[in-house]
Amino acid sequence: MKICVIGSGYVGLVTSACFSDFGNEVIGVDLDWEKVSQLNKGKAPFYEPGLDEFIKSNLKDGRLSFTTDLKKVANTSDLIFICVGTPPQRDGSIDLSYVEQAALDLGQTIDDYKIIVTKSTVPVGTSKKIAAIIAEALKKRKKKIKFDVVSNPEFLREGSAVLDATHPNRIIVGTESEKVRQVMRELYRPLYLLGTPMVFTNCQTAELAKYAANAFLATKISFINEIANICEIVGAEVKDIAKAMSYDRRIGGKFLHSGIGYGGSCFPKDTRGLVYQSGQAGYEMKIVAAAIKVNEEQAKHFCRKIALYLGRLKNKTVGVLGLSFKPNTDDMREAPALKVIDYLQQEKAWIRVFDPVAMPVARKIISGVAFCQDAYQAAKGGEALLIITEWNEFRNLDLTRIKKLMKKPIIIDGRNIYNPREMKKLGFIYAGVGIQSINNKAQSTNNE
Ligand SMILES: NC(=O)c1ccc[n+]([C@@H]2O[C@H](COP(=O)([O-])OP(=O)(O)OC[C@H]3O[C@@H](n4cnc5c(N)ncnc54)[C@H](O)[C@@H]3O)[C@@H](O)[C@H]2O)c1
Repeated sequence: MKICVIGSGYVGLVTSACFSDFGNEVIGVDLDWEKVSQLNKGKAPFYEPGLDEFIKSNLKDGRLSFTTDLKKVANTSDLIFICVGTPPQRDGSIDLSYVEQAALDLGQTIDDYKIIVTKSTVPVGTSKKIAAIIAEALKKRKKKIKFDVVSNPEFLREGSAVLDATHPNRIIVGTESEKVRQVMRELYRPLYLLGTPMVFTNCQTAELAKYAANAFLATKISFINEIANICEIVGAEVKDIAKAMSYDRRIGGKFLHSGIGYGGSCFPKDTRGLVYQSGQAGYEMKIVAAAIKVNEEQAKHFCRKIALYLGRLKNKTVGVLGLSFKPNTDDMREAPALKVIDYLQQEKAWIRVFDPVAMPVARKIISGVAFCQDAYQAAKGGEALLIITEWNEFRNLDLTRIKKLMKKPIIIDGRNIYNPREMKKLGFIYAGVGIQSINNKAQSTNNE
């Protein structure tokens, strides 16, 4: 098949490389000239494990290329994917301007039948909107051209995007057309051997299914974070509770890690987007609204913990380990680290930060902090070290060295990567999430 993919961000780029790996001819289109020229050299514009190699091997085989010129390539394709961004707006609604622009560009360009597939996460009813924009543009051109708009939401996770795209849990296809169903079945045929389930449904259902899945996962995180908060009060241990819950097959163990709250470009946007669109439809989405509230509180709760252990923060040095919203990505959109750094800056602390891959991104969006070369440099002279992202390399730090480097041996762990008892043995004052502090005495001596 000949495929055009509009947007070469996380979803568009991985989709382009994946479909070309399946043996299709794929052209990725992006507005960003610099990005396109790097991509044609096999360099992804962001950090994603395995993606550079994946792009390079498909470029080399001649099935993948990138351009900025949609008009030139749209008509050489049978299938056109829309994978542009859908950023959030202040009121929780979704900015659909990129999707609408892509639809308009297509309406002004296509000269024969096309299947237009939306992979971007879009509110219910967007497929109809896209169809209306294309139809209007075709009418203006006095062209009678048929086209179908399909919803095929994407579920890949940053950090394991290549694996997720090549081994998805399921494929959702929203369309009323049997002909389109056949084409989509054929497109995803390479996944047949993996037994990947395909769910065929209408566009509204496919659009909402994506929001439902993300909102459910976000709710699971907020749920365990609330359990963590009560654990801290009553002396229970959230990790053991999560373990106990996970053995129940109806619950499962995923997304039961308590911490500082979810971030990233999807969960915050999609939960707020679901609440907003439900409200617009006249229904109050109560559970998801509560999950959002708990998530917002969770970062504040972590900041209060810093104050509890350090007292006044003014002119105190604090190390921050981890800036990306989760490990294995350099994406800092809605990263909890930003909230913590913002709080530390308001309190006038000196901040030393380190992240294994997100430093170049961080330098563009954070100022007034010391960017360090490794975790040890970030810990140096600190009155506390905060663990914000659970990168593997933070799980096995030389803690004796860290302790020697710090002014006071206080570690506040937003991801529970260390064992509190072992930390105490090493002489640290250690606070995790959902565990009662076992250093209360030491803690009080640090309060001024
Ligand atoms: N990032 C994820 O993990 C993820 C996972 C599943 C779904 N999604 C959804 O997929 C969509 C894309 O997300 P992303 O993270 O890939 O976004 P992104 O911001 O990384 O990439 C979007 C790209 O689209 C390009 N673009 C915008 N308008 C364009 C146009 N008219 N023509 C050509 N290119 C255009 C931008 O230059 C940018 O490179 C969003 O709706 C998002 O919610 C994202």
